[in-house]
Amino acid sequence: MRNYIIILWFVSLFSCGKAMEPFKVSSPDSDIRLEFNLDENEAPFYKVYHKDKLVIDSSGLSFDFKNQASLGAGLNVLKTETSTVNETWQMPWGEQTEVANHYNELIVYLEEATETKRKFNIHFRVFNDGLGFRYDFPEQEHLQEVIITDENTEFNLTGDHKVWWIPGDWDIYEHVYNESKLSEIDALSKRDHPNLSATHIPENAVNTPVTMKTDEALYLSFHEADLTDYSGMTLKVDKDGLGLTSELVGSERLGGKVRLAAPFKTPWRTIQIAERAGDLIESKLILNLNEPNKIGDVSYFTPMKYVGIWWEMHIGKSTWDFEATQDMTTYTQGKASSKTHGANTKNAKRYIDFASEHGIKGLLVEGWNTGWNQWLSGDREGIFDFMTSYPDYNFEEVIAYAKAKGVEIIMHHETSAAPRTYEKQMDEAYNFMKKHGINSVKTGYVGKIIPEGEYHHGQYMVNHYHKVLEEAAKKKIAINAHEPIKATGKRRTYPNAIAREGLRGQEFNAWASDGGNPTSHLSTVAFTRMLSGPIDFTPGVFNIKMDGYKENNQINTTLAHQLALYVVIYSPIQMLCDLPEHYMENGQIHPMFQFLKDVGVDWEQTKVLDGEVGDFVIIAREERETGDWFVGGITDEHARNLQLNFDFLPEGTSFQAVIYKDGPDAHWDENPTDYAIETMDITSKSTLDVHLVAGGGFAISIKKN
Ligand code: NOJ
Ligand code: CA
Repeated sequence: MRNYIIILWFVSLFSCGKAMEPFKVSSPDSDIRLEFNLDENEAPFYKVYHKDKLVIDSSGLSFDFKNQASLGAGLNVLKTETSTVNETWQMPWGEQTEVANHYNELIVYLEEATETKRKFNIHFRVFNDGLGFRYDFPEQEHLQEVIITDENTEFNLTGDHKVWWIPGDWDIYEHVYNESKLSEIDALSKRDHPNLSATHIPENAVNTPVTMKTDEALYLSFHEADLTDYSGMTLKVDKDGLGLTSELVGSERLGGKVRLAAPFKTPWRTIQIAERAGDLIESKLILNLNEPNKIGDVSYFTPMKYVGIWWEMHIGKSTWDFEATQDMTTYTQGKASSKTHGANTKNAKRYIDFASEHGIKGLLVEGWNTGWNQWLSGDREGIFDFMTSYPDYNFEEVIAYAKAKGVEIIMHHETSAAPRTYEKQMDEAYNFMKKHGINSVKTGYVGKIIPEGEYHHGQYMVNHYHKVLEEAAKKKIAINAHEPIKATGKRRTYPNAIAREGLRGQEFNAWASDGGNPTSHLSTVAFTRMLSGPIDFTPGVFNIKMDGYKENNQINTTLAHQLALYVVIYSPIQMLCDLPEHYMENGQIHPMFQFLKDVGVDWEQTKVLDGEVGDFVIIAREERETGDWFVGGITDEHARNLQLNFDFLPEGTSFQAVIYKDGPDAHWDENPTDYAIETMDITSKSTLDVHLVAGGGFAISIKKN
């Protein structure tokens, strides 16, 4: 057993009312130090130092409630406890097999000096890669049922840092990342958001993970861990003080933010701290702040690549609805269409043949079930049926055909943001899946949440997404949610939470009227959204200009950049999203497709070789079991020359490297599909010069000779 835990408890007891020395807790390597104290109003605050330099200045911690006095001043510290944990645990699937969980903890027990003696405790955990803290409200007489109207957790920064942010939208994370100074964040200017059916930005706030770089080149990223029975946290910008304050997503039905009954714990508020941008990606702090696996064996889910009847709807070749009366490419309704319904038996078999021929394990079929004719209309309650297929889709026949060809069908449940309709059918729908041997489902929540007054990121929906995970786990089903709640590391506890969207995915390139995802999109996503967990981005477009389909849309990357995304963007399920015919060239499978066949999806270890937020990133990952390595690198709109060294490979072994790269004349806009493929023998001592064109990238497969 390699796991070991050392717990050392120190309990200190205090008398009330005296000025105190701060309570301190440091990271195991002593680089990060957190200090906690009470100010002259006996109000709690904390500070954070990195190598003795202040990175979070005095920041308050308090709560406002409906029909009850605020909590956060006039407090006594009853006692504190400290402990150390040092253990390793294993991921059933993931970016790496073994995860080190090493931190020092300080728990501060607080109680009001008034007669009611309301109390709460704060747990601080400090790791080498950052820290997390959560509030813990024990059972008590004078704080029972509460409606939290505001959690006021402050993060006061020490400078006007450079920030990569998306607006604090209560309904959707599908925004382009912005780069600005902290004081120049202007989330309200992002309210006009094309192509989405739900968006709500009430404050000048940002969503998390939000990543920053200080003038001293220190990287900070703020997020939350273990978001359970609570509302998602946005961070409101306080322009004068260069500070951020938690602003929870609200509910008009509740007239507040969160309803709870003590005892309860809030999610962890997390601050990742790194000297190298790539260390943010390697950090497992958010996962470590979640509870261990509580659903047991998840071998019913195997990490895999998949194709889908999907992109063809987004580029307008076919439709989700059987009647084909909607122009779904812009998510609008009513336009008569000459298109056909995509999810028909014949088409499904065509995709199955392609997947089977090329060793791609999964097939997602969207638009197979009834309800799509009304999914965008006002009345979406009770519309979707998760057991009934359209007449041209013979469910049994497709399942049998897929089985015979060794392909696994991935279920699709678009709920159109009507969670009550979904919850009603959930049990039966999951039984229906299992009866047909289907082990995973992509869910979707397009539209304004029904009932009105709730938002995608509020407590009501957090509880819905959680219920889906729990019910699915009982039936041995894995979940890939679109329009989800943000990832907060719950995949550690519920490893049937395999992936999610929660960002501007590839689909925006098909229909967004704003020019699609910028060239720098994924070099930013890797250091922001990806810090929270796996992303179903759906890479792999080969018909970059969407020739034959969309005149005004394109992918703003080169072909080689698309290949690199299978390594750069982590997910245990990776879509090969383009149409089978687009993976062909002159009647043959495209030479660059070989990388998509070879690339792994489940990793023994991950190393970020280099990178800078919003500019470029290079990641190497070792595949589990085979020991093969894959490297992916992408750049923004700037061309770059990079020198790779392979010192991550085991010494003394010879490997064959196949390098898939931008052709000499490639350019994301002018010539995106120019490519070159090169093969060479390498060892851990080899080096390689790679040129990335504007919007370009490279991918390397490295196998033992
Ligand atoms: C939005 C999802 O992100 C997309 O992948 C899906 O095709 C549509 N909803 C329809 O469910
Ligand atoms: Ca989406």
